[in-house]
Amino acid sequence: MGGVLSTTDSDGAIFPRDLHFSEADFRAVRSLLYQRTGIALSDAKNHMAYARLAKRVRHKGFSSFADYLALLSSEQGAGEWEHFINSLTTNLTSFFRESHHFDILRQHAQQHAGNSGPYQVWSSAASTGEEPYSILFTLAQSLEGRDYRIVASDIDTNVLGKAAAGVYAADRVEKLDPALLRQFFVRGVGSNAGKVKVKAAWSRQIDFRRINLVDSQWPQLEQFDVIFCRNVLIYFDKPTQAGILEHFARHLKPHGLLLLGHSENIQHISTTFEPCGKTAYRLARG
Ligand SMILES: C[S@@+](CC[C@H](N)C(=O)[O-])C[C@H]1O[C@@H](n2cnc3c(N)ncnc32)[C@H](O)[C@@H]1O
Repeated sequence: MGGVLSTTDSDGAIFPRDLHFSEADFRAVRSLLYQRTGIALSDAKNHMAYARLAKRVRHKGFSSFADYLALLSSEQGAGEWEHFINSLTTNLTSFFRESHHFDILRQHAQQHAGNSGPYQVWSSAASTGEEPYSILFTLAQSLEGRDYRIVASDIDTNVLGKAAAGVYAADRVEKLDPALLRQFFVRGVGSNAGKVKVKAAWSRQIDFRRINLVDSQWPQLEQFDVIFCRNVLIYFDKPTQAGILEHFARHLKPHGLLLLGHSENIQHISTTFEPCGKTAYRLARG
């Protein structure tokens, strides 16, 4: 049957829809996204799905979502999945978001770094990089001279590219301490005025990788002292969350910490982890 004829953007403005998007198309988008990423869209996300994917459908020269979905299911559509996923992820983030986690990280690093090989931290939903860079700044300042490694991963290759480039609008860093800004960033000049860039000597210390948290097999990964998995579990249903938590448990050192987002409570999902601070968890003892 006919699709909704208008859509609403993030500011609530209503626009007419120029592309045909039926309820069946929405259900197909939802199901494909869930199979590939674990992201579970509710009925209320119809407008969001249209708004985020329409640009890509137009870019491919289609006037209906049905034609675009047919491409995705065809052999020629194999390379399109990356764009489909990149279009539909939610990437909101900021430097030192939920700042208490960086206090926890500093204390934990000072206690455990140097005990057994490098101190290893994984930002597992790194988005555009603000989270792994906040980890890097914290470790650089608290572990001077000691060995540490940071892995930053995301399913979305577009945000990972931005993260690796380390270029941000200057207003994204305006609340950061000026000394930290001087240590880690350069200010853009000329056509880059109004932007800052993480100094290459720092950004190359982070290992950026594409990892899909719902892949049945993760790539070869080290054992981590701390895993950040913040503000992504909320997009998954409980069985998916439980599966990811079991994977994390296998990649944490015995004294390791798992740090989750403010609205992600896993106590009713996992007995493998127990709380040990504000949205901080460790492997359950006993
Ligand atoms: C809202 S951002 C959170 C960014 C950061 N962790 C923070 O808290 O500020 C969620 C990120 O999770 C990523 N994501 C969604 N599904 C994923 C999956 N299956 N595997 C890995 N990353 C995923 C998205 O691409 C997005 O960049």
